[in-house]
Amino acid sequence: MKPGDAVGKPAGERRPLRIALLGCGTVGSQVVRLLREQARDLEARVGAPLELAGVAVRRIDRRRDVEIDPALLTTDAMGLVTRDDVDIVVEVIGGIEPARTLILAAMERGKSIVTANKALLAEDGATIHGAARRHGVDLYFEASVGGAIPLLRPLRESLAGDHVHRVLGIVNGTTNYILDKMDSTGASFTDALEEAQALGYAEADPTADVEGFDAAAKAAILAGIAFHTRVTAADVHREGITEITAADVASAAAMGYVIKLLAICARSEDGRSVGVRVHPAMIPRSHPLAGVREAYNAVFVEAESAGRLMFYGAGAGGPQTASAVLGDIVAVARNRLAGTRGPDESTYADLPVHPIGETVTRYHVALDVADKPGVLARVAEIFAKHDVSIQTVRQEGHGDDAQLVIVTHHAKDAALSATVESLRELDIVRAVASVMRVEGEDER
Ligand code: NDP
Ligand code: HSE
Repeated sequence: MKPGDAVGKPAGERRPLRIALLGCGTVGSQVVRLLREQARDLEARVGAPLELAGVAVRRIDRRRDVEIDPALLTTDAMGLVTRDDVDIVVEVIGGIEPARTLILAAMERGKSIVTANKALLAEDGATIHGAARRHGVDLYFEASVGGAIPLLRPLRESLAGDHVHRVLGIVNGTTNYILDKMDSTGASFTDALEEAQALGYAEADPTADVEGFDAAAKAAILAGIAFHTRVTAADVHREGITEITAADVASAAAMGYVIKLLAICARSEDGRSVGVRVHPAMIPRSHPLAGVREAYNAVFVEAESAGRLMFYGAGAGGPQTASAVLGDIVAVARNRLAGTRGPDESTYADLPVHPIGETVTRYHVALDVADKPGVLARVAEIFAKHDVSIQTVRQEGHGDDAQLVIVTHHAKDAALSATVESLRELDIVRAVASVMRVEGEDER
């Protein structure tokens, strides 16, 4: 069926819209289940039946979470996406290849695309969006950020008449679970990670989550939509949570803070550039993001007229993510029947992404120091030399265990880095125990 073929036909006379599903793992198996269990409702909502044309997988004989007619399963994904009787391709394989090649081949043949693939969109969104525009097909990807949470469509469509200043949130469930456990039980990073793996939140290879790659890909997608600018994963400053210690978490708690892995996409003060970063940060316990527990996600959007909006919910999981995929399937199916398309990628603003050194925020610095007169004065002098203003200083322990904990006022990241370098050279500083950004005081 070509887009628009069914325009004007009554629902009962429309032939089914046929879906090729690429991948049948955690998310794909739930897409199959929902397509089957909700077939009647979906047909009524779309105006035509939705039918599975085939399901491409890597291993035909693998046990699956859902029953599938064996005749639908294939390892020939390319053969499936290029079939004439396929209208919509749903890609839930993940990763860059073969997902990219399959999506591009499907678009070339006029298929609408639904994908949950943040890694691909953040690495090579330009190619994928460009092909969708060139071939006049839909590309929907709500599930790629925030799992079940309706987030991209509100940003892209509901806020299309507003001016977004900042998007700040928790977009990785695995790391939020780990940090939450460290905070609530005093566990070490390693123990909390093991627990997350045992519960199936973290993968056997947790690198993408704990090193911040997953969150960075999501931040790139969010920033691109929010600021009408192309942002790739390579533009995102990224730090993971592997260096966070139980002592850091305890120190944060003592000061009324909690540590979260945040994705922060913000316009600069003059509005001429944007900063996109993912890193652990301390936020006050009274901040709404501090109450986001376990593997949940939450994202704050600050817009000129709308003010502050918060989106909260399950950021991962098979059924949850499949809900977002199904929403996209319904949207692209309706578009096909109406002979129309959703909005193209919007990159007209084309703002440069500024380096992390330009970022202005506050910092928590813990220094292992000699416990003797004059130490505080020398430390304060270093901060002053680099134009970093101190808000509070606290001493923990004494003698050989003395630690100075300093929280700064707003300063540029580059100035803070230079301060830390100078502190490392001071004979009275035994070690810079930790440096962490402090966020979220201004929107309490
Ligand atoms: P899984 O690893 O559970 O499933 C991947 C599926 O892809 C498997 O069915 C696998 O086949 C199939 N596959 C792998 N390689 C090929 C190939 N070359 N050809 C055909 N099929 C292939 O991944 P998820 O379901 O967890 O994730 C899918 C996508 O959704 C990813 O982009 C992910 O980032 C995204 N996502 C996932 C979320 C989650 O909670 N899991 C949340 C939000 C987004 P086989 O089964 O035979 O091995
Ligand atoms: N690994 C991701 C997370 C899955 O933990 O949030 C959702 O993208």
